[in-house]
Amino acid sequence: MAGHQIAAAKPVKLDEIGDWSVLKLEILKKYASAYSAILHGQHRFHHMYIDGFAGAGHHIIKKTRELVAGSPLNALHIEPPFKELHLIDLDSAKVSELNRLTQQMSHVTVYGGDANKILLSEVFPKVKYEDYRRALCILDPYGMQLDWRVLAAAAKSQTIEIFLNFPIMDMNRNVLLWNGDNADPNDIARMTAIWGDDSWRQACYVETRDLFGGVGYEKQANSQVAEAFRQRLIKVAGFKHVPQPVAMRNKNRAIVYYLFFAAQRPVAGSIVKQIFDGYRNKGLL
Ligand SMILES: C[S@@+](CC[C@H](N)C(=O)[O-])C[C@H]1O[C@@H](n2cnc3c(N)ncnc32)[C@H](O)[C@@H]1O
Repeated sequence: MAGHQIAAAKPVKLDEIGDWSVLKLEILKKYASAYSAILHGQHRFHHMYIDGFAGAGHHIIKKTRELVAGSPLNALHIEPPFKELHLIDLDSAKVSELNRLTQQMSHVTVYGGDANKILLSEVFPKVKYEDYRRALCILDPYGMQLDWRVLAAAAKSQTIEIFLNFPIMDMNRNVLLWNGDNADPNDIARMTAIWGDDSWRQACYVETRDLFGGVGYEKQANSQVAEAFRQRLIKVAGFKHVPQPVAMRNKNRAIVYYLFFAAQRPVAGSIVKQIFDGYRNKGLL
Protein backbone atom coordinates (compact mmCIF):
# COMPACT_ATOMS: atom_id res chain seq x y z
CA MET A 1 0.00 0.00 0.00
CA ALA A 2 2.96 2.28 0.55
CA GLY A 3 3.03 5.43 -1.51
CA HIS A 4 -0.20 5.11 -3.44
CA GLN A 5 -2.78 7.88 -3.67
CA ILE A 6 -6.16 7.50 -2.02
CA ALA A 7 -8.77 10.22 -2.58
CA ALA A 8 -10.62 10.68 0.71
CA ALA A 9 -14.43 10.94 0.43
CA LYS A 10 -14.72 12.69 3.78
CA PRO A 11 -11.99 14.73 5.43
CA VAL A 12 -10.22 12.47 7.86
CA LYS A 13 -7.15 13.52 9.74
CA LEU A 14 -4.74 10.64 9.27
CA ASP A 15 -2.46 9.80 12.19
CA GLU A 16 1.22 10.57 11.71
CA ILE A 17 3.33 7.65 12.83
CA GLY A 18 6.95 7.18 13.90
CA ASP A 19 9.43 4.34 13.44
CA TRP A 20 8.13 2.26 16.33
CA SER A 21 4.61 2.22 14.85
CA VAL A 22 6.07 0.99 11.57
CA LEU A 23 7.75 -1.88 13.47
CA LYS A 24 4.49 -2.65 15.28
CA LEU A 25 2.65 -2.86 11.95
CA GLU A 26 5.34 -5.18 10.57
CA ILE A 27 5.10 -7.50 13.60
CA LEU A 28 1.30 -7.63 13.43
CA LYS A 29 1.42 -8.35 9.70
CA LYS A 30 3.99 -11.15 10.13
CA TYR A 31 1.94 -12.94 12.75
CA ALA A 32 -1.40 -12.34 10.98
CA SER A 33 0.07 -13.97 7.83
CA ALA A 34 1.28 -17.01 9.77
CA TYR A 35 -2.03 -17.24 11.65
CA SER A 36 -4.13 -17.04 8.50
CA ALA A 37 -1.98 -19.62 6.69
CA ILE A 38 -2.23 -22.11 9.57
CA LEU A 39 -5.97 -21.71 10.15
CA HIS A 40 -6.73 -21.70 6.42
CA GLY A 41 -4.87 -25.00 6.09
CA GLN A 42 -7.13 -26.61 8.70
CA HIS A 43 -10.29 -26.57 6.64
CA ARG A 44 -12.86 -26.87 9.40
CA PHE A 45 -11.90 -23.50 10.89
CA HIS A 46 -13.54 -20.19 10.07
CA HIS A 47 -10.89 -17.66 11.05
CA MET A 48 -11.56 -14.02 11.71
CA TYR A 49 -9.62 -10.79 12.20
CA ILE A 50 -10.81 -8.26 14.77
CA ASP A 51 -9.35 -4.77 15.15
CA GLY A 52 -10.78 -3.03 18.23
CA PHE A 53 -9.01 0.32 17.80
CA ALA A 54 -8.67 0.14 14.04
CA GLY A 55 -7.82 3.72 13.05
CA ALA A 56 -8.57 5.11 9.59
CA GLY A 57 -6.97 2.25 7.63
CA HIS A 58 -3.85 4.15 6.70
CA HIS A 59 -1.39 6.61 8.18
CA ILE A 60 1.28 9.10 7.19
CA ILE A 61 4.89 8.30 8.12
CA LYS A 62 6.10 11.40 9.97
CA LYS A 63 9.65 11.38 8.55
CA THR A 64 8.88 10.71 4.90
CA ARG A 65 5.23 11.88 4.55
CA GLU A 66 4.57 8.53 2.88
CA LEU A 67 1.07 7.05 3.00
CA VAL A 68 1.13 3.55 4.55
CA ALA A 69 -1.46 0.92 5.31
CA GLY A 70 -2.55 0.63 8.94
CA SER A 71 -3.34 -2.62 10.74
CA PRO A 72 -6.83 -3.19 9.21
CA LEU A 73 -5.71 -2.69 5.59
CA ASN A 74 -2.68 -4.91 6.15
CA ALA A 75 -5.03 -7.60 7.46
CA LEU A 76 -7.33 -7.19 4.46
CA HIS A 77 -4.49 -7.95 2.07
CA ILE A 78 -3.18 -11.05 3.79
CA GLU A 79 -3.09 -14.23 1.71
CA PRO A 80 -4.73 -16.63 2.28
CA PRO A 81 -7.40 -14.17 3.42
CA PHE A 82 -9.28 -14.02 6.69
CA LYS A 83 -12.86 -15.24 6.27
CA GLU A 84 -14.29 -12.25 8.16
CA LEU A 85 -12.94 -8.95 9.42
CA HIS A 86 -14.50 -6.80 12.15
CA LEU A 87 -13.15 -3.26 12.44
CA ILE A 88 -14.09 -0.82 15.20
CA ASP A 89 -13.24 2.81 15.87
CA LEU A 90 -14.74 5.54 18.02
CA ASP A 91 -13.89 8.40 15.66
CA SER A 92 -16.66 8.91 13.11
CA ALA A 93 -14.37 10.34 10.40
CA LYS A 94 -12.14 7.26 10.69
CA VAL A 95 -15.19 5.00 10.59
CA SER A 96 -16.36 6.70 7.34
CA GLU A 97 -12.91 6.20 5.89
CA LEU A 98 -12.92 2.50 6.88
CA ASN A 99 -16.36 2.14 5.31
CA ARG A 100 -15.13 3.80 2.13
CA LEU A 101 -12.04 1.58 1.92
CA THR A 102 -14.02 -1.62 2.47
CA GLN A 103 -17.20 -0.91 0.54
CA GLN A 104 -18.57 -3.91 -1.35
CA MET A 105 -16.44 -6.26 0.75
CA SER A 106 -19.17 -8.39 2.23
CA HIS A 107 -16.76 -10.17 4.60
CA VAL A 108 -15.88 -6.88 6.37
CA THR A 109 -18.02 -5.24 9.07
CA VAL A 110 -17.17 -1.76 10.31
CA TYR A 111 -18.55 -0.53 13.64
CA GLY A 112 -18.54 3.02 15.00
CA GLY A 113 -18.39 3.27 18.78
CA ASP A 114 -16.60 2.15 21.92
CA ALA A 115 -14.62 -1.04 21.30
CA ASN A 116 -15.09 -2.20 24.88
CA LYS A 117 -18.84 -2.39 24.42
CA ILE A 118 -18.93 -3.58 20.80
CA LEU A 119 -16.37 -6.35 21.31
CA LEU A 120 -18.20 -7.77 24.32
CA SER A 121 -21.74 -7.47 23.01
CA GLU A 122 -21.44 -7.93 19.23
CA VAL A 123 -18.12 -9.30 18.06
CA PHE A 124 -16.73 -11.80 20.58
CA PRO A 125 -20.06 -13.70 20.76
CA LYS A 126 -19.56 -14.55 17.06
CA VAL A 127 -16.32 -16.44 17.82
CA LYS A 128 -17.80 -19.63 19.22
CA TYR A 129 -15.54 -22.59 19.93
CA GLU A 130 -18.15 -25.16 18.94
CA ASP A 131 -18.66 -23.46 15.56
CA TYR A 132 -14.92 -23.85 14.81
CA ARG A 133 -14.54 -20.09 14.77
CA ARG A 134 -11.21 -18.62 15.77
CA ALA A 135 -10.01 -15.00 15.82
CA LEU A 136 -6.95 -12.81 16.04
CA CYS A 137 -7.86 -9.59 17.82
CA ILE A 138 -5.69 -6.44 17.81
CA LEU A 139 -6.13 -4.04 20.73
CA ASP A 140 -4.13 -0.93 19.95
CA PRO A 141 -5.52 2.05 21.85
CA TYR A 142 -3.69 5.40 22.08
CA GLY A 143 -3.68 5.18 25.87
CA MET A 144 -5.66 3.63 28.71
CA GLN A 145 -8.92 3.27 26.75
CA LEU A 146 -9.18 -0.49 27.11
CA ASP A 147 -11.28 -2.30 29.69
CA TRP A 148 -9.79 -5.44 31.27
CA ARG A 149 -13.12 -7.25 30.74
CA VAL A 150 -12.29 -7.43 27.04
CA LEU A 151 -9.05 -9.30 27.81
CA ALA A 152 -10.80 -11.60 30.28
CA ALA A 153 -13.54 -12.39 27.74
CA ALA A 154 -10.98 -13.13 25.01
CA ALA A 155 -9.14 -15.55 27.31
CA LYS A 156 -12.34 -17.21 28.47
CA SER A 157 -13.55 -17.77 24.91
CA GLN A 158 -10.59 -20.12 24.23
CA THR A 159 -10.93 -18.97 20.61
CA ILE A 160 -9.48 -15.44 20.56
CA GLU A 161 -5.78 -14.54 20.52
CA ILE A 162 -4.81 -10.97 21.21
CA PHE A 163 -2.09 -8.44 20.58
CA LEU A 164 -2.29 -5.62 23.09
CA ASN A 165 -0.36 -2.39 22.93
CA PHE A 166 -0.02 -1.76 26.67
CA PRO A 167 0.17 2.02 27.15
CA ILE A 168 2.94 2.35 29.74
CA MET A 169 3.71 5.98 28.84
CA ASP A 170 0.13 7.13 29.44
CA MET A 171 0.23 5.24 32.75
CA ASN A 172 3.55 6.78 33.79
CA ARG A 173 2.54 10.29 32.86
CA ASN A 174 -0.87 10.30 34.42
CA VAL A 175 -1.09 7.69 37.16
CA LEU A 176 2.17 6.06 38.16
CA LEU A 177 3.64 9.23 39.57
CA TRP A 178 6.70 8.75 41.75
CA ASN A 179 4.96 9.36 45.03
CA GLY A 180 1.80 7.51 43.99
CA ASP A 181 -0.42 10.46 44.89
CA ASN A 182 -1.84 13.46 43.11
CA ALA A 183 -3.19 11.61 40.08
CA ASP A 184 -6.48 12.78 38.61
CA PRO A 185 -9.37 10.52 39.75
CA ASN A 186 -10.37 9.99 36.09
CA ASP A 187 -6.89 8.74 35.27
CA ILE A 188 -6.93 6.46 38.32
CA ALA A 189 -10.27 5.07 37.11
CA ARG A 190 -8.80 4.44 33.61
CA MET A 191 -5.84 2.63 35.20
CA THR A 192 -8.10 0.45 37.32
CA ALA A 193 -10.25 -0.31 34.25
CA ILE A 194 -7.36 -1.55 32.12
CA TRP A 195 -5.65 -3.39 35.01
CA GLY A 196 -8.92 -5.04 36.00
CA ASP A 197 -8.86 -4.00 39.66
CA ASP A 198 -6.83 -1.72 41.91
CA SER A 199 -4.10 -4.27 42.60
CA TRP A 200 -1.90 -2.10 40.34
CA ARG A 201 -1.30 -0.03 43.48
CA GLN A 202 0.69 -2.89 45.00
CA ALA A 203 2.10 -4.21 41.73
CA CYS A 204 3.47 -0.91 40.46
CA TYR A 205 5.02 0.48 43.66
CA VAL A 206 7.58 -0.75 46.11
CA GLU A 207 7.67 0.26 49.76
CA THR A 208 10.79 2.18 50.82
CA ARG A 209 12.09 3.26 54.23
CA ASP A 210 14.19 6.31 54.89
CA LEU A 211 17.04 6.53 57.42
CA PHE A 212 14.59 7.32 60.17
CA GLY A 213 12.27 4.40 59.41
CA GLY A 214 9.70 6.56 57.61
CA VAL A 215 7.70 4.62 54.98
CA GLY A 216 7.47 5.82 51.39
CA TYR A 217 6.57 4.36 47.99
CA GLU A 218 8.52 4.33 44.77
CA LYS A 219 7.35 3.38 41.35
CA GLN A 220 8.64 0.06 40.05
CA ALA A 221 10.66 -0.03 36.83
CA ASN A 222 8.63 -0.24 33.60
CA SER A 223 9.79 -3.81 33.04
CA GLN A 224 8.38 -4.84 36.43
CA VAL A 225 5.03 -3.19 35.72
CA ALA A 226 4.91 -5.06 32.39
CA GLU A 227 5.82 -8.35 34.09
CA ALA A 228 3.09 -7.86 36.71
CA PHE A 229 0.59 -7.32 33.89
CA ARG A 230 1.88 -10.40 32.03
CA GLN A 231 1.29 -12.45 35.17
CA ARG A 232 -2.28 -11.12 35.33
CA LEU A 233 -2.90 -12.15 31.73
CA ILE A 234 -1.85 -15.68 32.70
CA LYS A 235 -3.16 -16.06 36.24
CA VAL A 236 -6.24 -13.83 36.28
CA ALA A 237 -7.44 -13.73 32.66
CA GLY A 238 -6.39 -17.34 31.98
CA PHE A 239 -4.25 -17.10 28.82
CA LYS A 240 -1.85 -20.06 28.70
CA HIS A 241 0.84 -18.52 26.50
CA VAL A 242 2.00 -14.95 27.00
CA PRO A 243 5.56 -14.38 25.73
CA GLN A 244 7.66 -11.56 27.19
CA PRO A 245 6.33 -8.41 25.52
CA VAL A 246 8.51 -6.19 23.34
CA ALA A 247 9.17 -2.59 24.35
CA MET A 248 8.21 -0.08 21.68
CA ARG A 249 10.37 3.04 22.00
CA ASN A 250 10.06 6.56 20.63
CA LYS A 251 12.94 8.46 19.02
CA ASN A 252 14.28 9.40 22.47
CA ARG A 253 14.39 5.65 23.34
CA ALA A 254 11.66 6.14 25.95
CA ILE A 255 9.25 3.20 26.18
CA VAL A 256 5.83 4.24 24.85
CA TYR A 257 4.11 0.83 24.83
CA TYR A 258 4.77 -2.82 25.52
CA LEU A 259 3.43 -5.02 22.76
CA PHE A 260 1.89 -8.09 24.38
CA PHE A 261 0.60 -11.24 22.77
CA ALA A 262 -1.64 -13.72 24.57
CA ALA A 263 -3.10 -17.01 23.36
CA GLN A 264 -4.16 -20.49 24.40
CA ARG A 265 -2.24 -22.47 21.77
CA PRO A 266 1.45 -23.22 22.44
CA VAL A 267 2.30 -22.90 18.73
CA ALA A 268 0.93 -19.34 18.72
CA GLY A 269 3.11 -18.38 21.68
CA SER A 270 6.23 -19.84 20.09
CA ILE A 271 5.66 -18.19 16.68
CA VAL A 272 5.25 -14.79 18.33
CA LYS A 273 8.26 -15.36 20.60
CA GLN A 274 10.32 -16.09 17.49
CA ILE A 275 9.07 -12.92 15.79
CA PHE A 276 9.72 -10.80 18.91
CA ASP A 277 13.21 -12.34 19.38
CA GLY A 278 14.05 -11.63 15.74
CA TYR A 279 13.42 -7.91 16.26
CA ARG A 280 15.20 -7.88 19.66
CA ASN A 281 18.26 -9.69 18.28
CA LYS A 282 18.56 -7.21 15.42
CA GLY A 283 18.52 -4.45 18.06
CA LEU A 284 15.41 -2.95 16.51
CA LEU A 285 13.43 -2.87 19.76
C1 LIG B 1 -3.26 3.84 17.81
S1 LIG B 1 -4.69 4.12 16.86
C2 LIG B 1 -4.91 2.60 16.02
C3 LIG B 1 -3.95 2.36 14.91
C4 LIG B 1 -4.18 1.07 14.16
N1 LIG B 1 -4.21 -0.09 15.06
C5 LIG B 1 -3.05 0.83 13.17
O1 LIG B 1 -1.98 0.36 13.59
O2 LIG B 1 -3.23 1.10 12.00
C6 LIG B 1 -5.95 4.10 18.06
C7 LIG B 1 -7.36 4.28 17.54
O3 LIG B 1 -8.28 4.02 18.61
C8 LIG B 1 -9.44 4.83 18.44
N2 LIG B 1 -10.14 4.82 19.73
C9 LIG B 1 -9.89 5.52 20.86
N3 LIG B 1 -10.75 5.15 21.84
C10 LIG B 1 -11.53 4.17 21.33
C11 LIG B 1 -12.55 3.35 21.85
N4 LIG B 1 -12.96 3.47 23.12
N5 LIG B 1 -13.14 2.43 21.05
C12 LIG B 1 -12.72 2.29 19.75
N6 LIG B 1 -11.75 3.03 19.20
C13 LIG B 1 -11.15 3.96 19.98
C14 LIG B 1 -8.87 6.15 17.95
O4 LIG B 1 -9.85 6.89 17.24
C15 LIG B 1 -7.71 5.69 17.06
O5 LIG B 1 -8.12 5.62 15.71
